[in-house]
Amino acid sequence: MLTSLETHVVILAAGQGTRMKSKLPKVLHRLVGRPLIDHVLQAADAIAPSTMTLVIGHGADLLRSAMVSRPNVGFVVQEPQLGTAHALQQAEPRLAGRQGTVVLLSGDVPLLTGATLRRLVETHQAAGAAATVATAIVERPYGYGRIVRTKGRIARIVEERDASPEVRQIREINSGIYAFDLAPLFEALRGIASQNAQGEYYLTDLIAIYRRRKLPVETLVVDNPQEIRGINSRTELAEVSHIVRQTKNEELMAAGVTIIDPATTYIDPDVEIGADTVIHPGVSIEGQSRVGAACEIHSHVRIVGSEIADKSVILNFCLIIGSRIAEGASVGPFAHLRPESVVGERAKIGNFVELKKTTMGAGSKANHLTYLGDATIGERVNVGAGTITCNYDGTRKHPTIIEDGAFIGSDTQLIAPVRIGKGAYVAAGSSITEDVPDGALGIARGRQANVDGWVERRKAQGKD
Ligand code: UD1
Ligand code: CA
Repeated sequence: MLTSLETHVVILAAGQGTRMKSKLPKVLHRLVGRPLIDHVLQAADAIAPSTMTLVIGHGADLLRSAMVSRPNVGFVVQEPQLGTAHALQQAEPRLAGRQGTVVLLSGDVPLLTGATLRRLVETHQAAGAAATVATAIVERPYGYGRIVRTKGRIARIVEERDASPEVRQIREINSGIYAFDLAPLFEALRGIASQNAQGEYYLTDLIAIYRRRKLPVETLVVDNPQEIRGINSRTELAEVSHIVRQTKNEELMAAGVTIIDPATTYIDPDVEIGADTVIHPGVSIEGQSRVGAACEIHSHVRIVGSEIADKSVILNFCLIIGSRIAEGASVGPFAHLRPESVVGERAKIGNFVELKKTTMGAGSKANHLTYLGDATIGERVNVGAGTITCNYDGTRKHPTIIEDGAFIGSDTQLIAPVRIGKGAYVAAGSSITEDVPDGALGIARGRQANVDGWVERRKAQGKD
């Protein structure tokens, strides 16, 4: 019957996050590419709650607009922000007439896993507790509320600022994550006072109140204390980012990826990388990127939301966004692949080459100093140094098509829309404004004139 209990999630996110010294609400600061609040919502999804409520205040409008893709999240506004107990009280209207378990989360505790939340709910419901506090034993308890126990049972929670030197020695801390039975909750919250160092209504005071009323209070000590790290400052944000990166790097190395310097390698949690790929120092791989097996990603490459197939090589200092690179291709050094670019099998993109919405067919090459935008390039095409697709007329973008086996001489401008036919040649230095048929040579430049004896005549005129 326990499983039939409804669960309701409430997430506290109204605080200013004073210690961040930021205009942005704290929970919108990003951890490995995603706002803190996103991480928390993802964990909450794991317990499939009947309702999800976000308590907002500081930066309320920014938070609402950040949540547009989450129609299941309801909002209550806490104004002014008088403490965590006061924050939870604001959710009462949304939970009126409901029953079951309220799971309270903090918007600034992003590493919490769905598995831990499920255990919290199970522990709480199995014990028939009025409140269950998720706690952890940590080396450095500074800043957290401490769990004070009598005869092994939780008696109360004391905030750092209100703690005596003895209580400060306690290493069991409050994670700020709880399960509550809805029935006694809101009535009991009204009994909390604000006589403490911060003059706030502390939710943590509820524990002593429940114990006085002989209501059962449980704890769940989480196995991995990292999971409940709260973020209050930019230093803590950096520390937690480090934990996430380290975990990801270790996972990848265990799966057969060589990471030469994990300390300078930034790989987002959702990235997939195949075995025997080598990642050099200073590489960032972000978003939903996939890198195949046996690839080599050299130093200072940034890959965002892209797919790189097996056996490809990305040389130093490339930026690759929203693009696909097929098997055995080579890109860089110093290449820029802008969104919707596709590099075919064994194709080569060399130094100082920029691609935008461009497809390069298998085995084609653009090795030096080139801009290819809105272009569709066939197989085995050679694009010479300094080629530019003039794809923009100041108002609209136009396509360039280069068919299989064509050869574009160096320093060519392809003024789009334009098509270079199969196997056609374009002479170096041409400004091509018209299509070049299959197998033809297109040449469009001023003819060279040599003036015989010019140097001698100039000398004779005494000009040198
Ligand atoms: C809180 C706990 C502390 C615990 C720690 C864990 C209290 C009194 N203290 O302290 O025991 O160890 O979390 O991380 O609960 N918030 C509101 N409205 C408010 C105040 C806060 O929505 O009026 C929100 C904040 O935006 C934040 C969360 O509640 O998301 C926690 O608030 P914060 O001020 O960070 O509490 P801590 O001092 O970390
Ligand atoms: Ca906090």
